[in-house]
Amino acid sequence: MGIVSALRCPRCGNEAASPAIFQCSGCNSILEVKVEVSHLSQPDLQGMLRSRDRTIWRWFDFFPIESRASIVSLGEGSTPLIHATRLGERLDIARLYLKNDTVLPTGSLKDRSNSVGISKAKEFGFATATVMSTGNAAASVAAYAAAAGMRSVVMVPVGTAASKIIQARAYGTTVVVVDGDFDNEVAKLYKAAVREFGWYDCLSSNPYRDEGKKSYAYEMVDQLDGEVPDWVIHPTAGGTGIYAMWKGFQEFYSLGWIQKLPRLVASQSEAAAPITEAFKKGLPDIEPVVARPTVAESIQVGNPVSLGWRALAALRESNGSAVALSDEETLEAQSLTARLAGIFAEPAAATSVAAARRLRSTGAIGPDELVVCNLTGHGLKQPEAIRLSDKELRPIPPVLEALREQVRRSEDHGGTLLVGRKTK
Ligand SMILES: Cc1ncc(COP(=O)(O)O)c(C=O)c1O
Ligand SMILES: [Zn+2]
Repeated sequence: MGIVSALRCPRCGNEAASPAIFQCSGCNSILEVKVEVSHLSQPDLQGMLRSRDRTIWRWFDFFPIESRASIVSLGEGSTPLIHATRLGERLDIARLYLKNDTVLPTGSLKDRSNSVGISKAKEFGFATATVMSTGNAAASVAAYAAAAGMRSVVMVPVGTAASKIIQARAYGTTVVVVDGDFDNEVAKLYKAAVREFGWYDCLSSNPYRDEGKKSYAYEMVDQLDGEVPDWVIHPTAGGTGIYAMWKGFQEFYSLGWIQKLPRLVASQSEAAAPITEAFKKGLPDIEPVVARPTVAESIQVGNPVSLGWRALAALRESNGSAVALSDEETLEAQSLTARLAGIFAEPAAATSVAAARRLRSTGAIGPDELVVCNLTGHGLKQPEAIRLSDKELRPIPPVLEALREQVRRSEDHGGTLLVGRKTK
């Protein structure tokens, strides 16, 4: 069982009066869950590694859930960690690995946190869960609430693409489109609704749910046979991933299960890069920005108020970095990842590969270092990021000659497509 001591404020040390209060009454910071793990030993680790359970729940002792009976799981976890040799060759990083979270149950990293968050909701006895979201969190909360037998309400800002809303709606959630800006009006309404209706909050303002992404750290160590990456690059919006990975690696380190810690990198869009800007300026906290439109829609967050400062601290403690990418770099990385590694990631997710490329080109990452890029969301989440030309869509008559002509003209491969078998 995950042994949880009281929720504590990471800024002023206050303890929460109840386990269901998420915010410090003194300074308004989001409280932190401390899961007691110091009693765990090597045999415990061996047991976890041997477990037939391949979900994040293999690491049950590290999560703030009292009983296995509360677990709400859709099979999240143990996503492939792929040695991407062709992409690595292009980027001049021989040991480039891709953590393929596009295969998670709802197609994004949010399932790691919501499996833990909704399990806790079940333990508390909540009936309705809620989240505000630009897409991925909405679908994930809706799916896990459905599996738990809970109702859910998700709020999205006006202008959210229908393709994003459809997935959440399919799980039976109530989708509310709010006429307002995500970081301000939608956020204000969301907070008021949580207070007014007593709904279960599934944002990064929920300290239980934030623990879920610690599973990245445990899985990487397992999949690399105990080796720790030199760098882990994570597409960053709210800062949960960076915060939680750092915590997860530190837990293993404190137990003596790993001998070093990785350097963490936040990859953001330059249209919404408050963590990167604060990192570069050496500030202790983020300064909210007004997020501009970007192709990296899922990480378009200008005010990561709950965990931004903690992610910033993790980047610094790990001697890591932060990189803000242009849309052009992001789309190029999306294309390279699909064409050279066979993984179709959404643009926000591909910022991790774009950041690896940038850091290698500046020499910050060395050619022989082990680099993991987290691919946090599926390309089909945002298919409109890829534009098909009229030429590609124009039908040909069903005759071999027309096919030959079309294939010969194919821009990418020239005449080579007309040869089926490899020549020496
Ligand atoms: C695809 C994708 N990647 C990354 C993130 C980053 O989240 P965080 O910084 O909270 O780990 C999100 C969500 O905001 C997302 O949807
Ligand atoms: Zn406090």
